[in-house]
Amino acid sequence: MKIYIEKDYNALSKKAADIITDFVKKNSKCVLGLATGSTPQKTYDLLGKMYKTKKVSFKNIKTFNLDEYSGLATNNPQSYHYFMKQNFFDKTDVNIKNTFFPTDFAPNYKKYDKKIKDEGEIDLQILGIGSNGHIGFNEPNSNFFSKTRQVKLSKNTIKDNARFFKNKKDVPIKAVTMGINTIMRAKKIILLANGSNKKEAVFNALCKKVSTKTPASILQNHKDVIVILDKESAEKFTRLNNFAKSKIKI
Ligand code: F6R
Repeated sequence: MKIYIEKDYNALSKKAADIITDFVKKNSKCVLGLATGSTPQKTYDLLGKMYKTKKVSFKNIKTFNLDEYSGLATNNPQSYHYFMKQNFFDKTDVNIKNTFFPTDFAPNYKKYDKKIKDEGEIDLQILGIGSNGHIGFNEPNSNFFSKTRQVKLSKNTIKDNARFFKNKKDVPIKAVTMGINTIMRAKKIILLANGSNKKEAVFNALCKKVSTKTPASILQNHKDVIVILDKESAEKFTRLNNFAKSKIKI
């Protein structure tokens, strides 16, 4: 595991965008796993700018999104389909035919895992982390062997997601997410976190024993993970100086 602690959100986003761009330049036909949410938003913005200035092309990539809310139309501005279109697909030369979301495979979500497998697995997976340590929408106590499936969102996640919705009653309570096993099969993973509301989750994921209580802790067992944090999200991790105690090589 490689861990970068950047000074702020902009620096974190630049680091992530540079790594992704380099990767796509070297692997123009790669399969990317994509996260949504506020964390990767600036990274996508920078990728769009790199495309515009001809530094990279996404023409031949395929993309698989981590998750999508259940029950939202794809043109609903809060849907992850919409998010990806606005933040990445419409700003680059990604071929929309090569972009996939788990809800598109309803109700047979096994087909999503099969499709990922048939494409040779995800080459580079981008992840955020929930304040409760979730990855995708694999909430605490999710099975580490889980595959793509429909899940109920935890109270904590519904509360966190409420900031994107005008009315509380509109916040989805279910979603379809890649499973933890689906994510762990990715060949390379980038985990991004920013803001002090993530410091507990980051600490639990990186420094505590691997446990289903913090789904992101399973990443300690993956052979190729890059973690990019800003100072705020890394605060507890740095302050307690648990580097030596953890099994992580920085
Ligand atoms: C989104 C996803 C979630 C988010 C996490 C953090 O596709 O899979 O796990 O990455 O909830 O969300 P933000 O970035 O909004 O804090």
